Amino acid sequence: MKTPFIIAVDGPAASGKGTLAAILADDYGLPCLDTGLLYRAVGHLARGADLDDHAGVAALAQGIDAGLLADEALRGRMAGEMASRVAAIPEVRAALKSFQVAFANQPGGAVLDGRDIGTVIAPHAPVKLFVTAEPETRARRRWLQLSAHDPELAYETVLNDIRVRDARDSGRADAPLEKAADALLLDTTDLDIEASIAAARSLVKSRCGA
Ligand code: CDP
Repeated sequence: MKTPFIIAVDGPAASGKGTLAAILADDYGLPCLDTGLLYRAVGHLARGADLDDHAGVAALAQGIDAGLLADEALRGRMAGEMASRVAAIPEVRAALKSFQVAFANQPGGAVLDGRDIGTVIAPHAPVKLFVTAEPETRARRRWLQLSAHDPELAYETVLNDIRVRDARDSGRADAPLEKAADALLLDTTDLDIEASIAAARSLVKSRCGA
């Protein structure tokens, strides 16, 4: 069977991977899935729940629908924090896996962004990018986004959130954040959006010869 044209875009929080994934999807006319949104949705549904009840939290994945995924609350700071907590629960990852695998392997191809796309969800993806940047750069970008809705939010708070989330995402036993051996590294620390887009496009072309 021919491998579908899958572009896997992984990387840490606020590295710019979501923006790049959406642009690459548009370039190639492919559907795009922000897999972080699925974890954010489970985290949102798990507010106030006992996170030690792994089966109970995983069952909340059944409650994800298009309306919930469009909810602005999922973009907020607490949703990101809750997402990374529930994402460390193997039962939650298992509950979300088949949807992501099916999305990746749809016949026309797809773009997915997340933490484990190139390693677990689509290890056979012909194109893999690992997008990263220094924590301070990522924190500044995320602070600019979040402070538009929360003027009281301090940059230091966001930097601390990013460091905690990096450690949790990279340190978990199940599907930790890590660069796949065959992923192309894109460090956007010194790149603005336009330069990041140009770099991502040329990396994808170098891999697929398009
Ligand atoms: O946008 P940002 O990079 O802050 O986060 P996100 O991509 O929306 O992901 C939120 C959280 O979900 C991450 O911190 C991860 O813990 C988790 N996640 C994951 O474990 N695996 C994925 N494929 C995507 C997200």
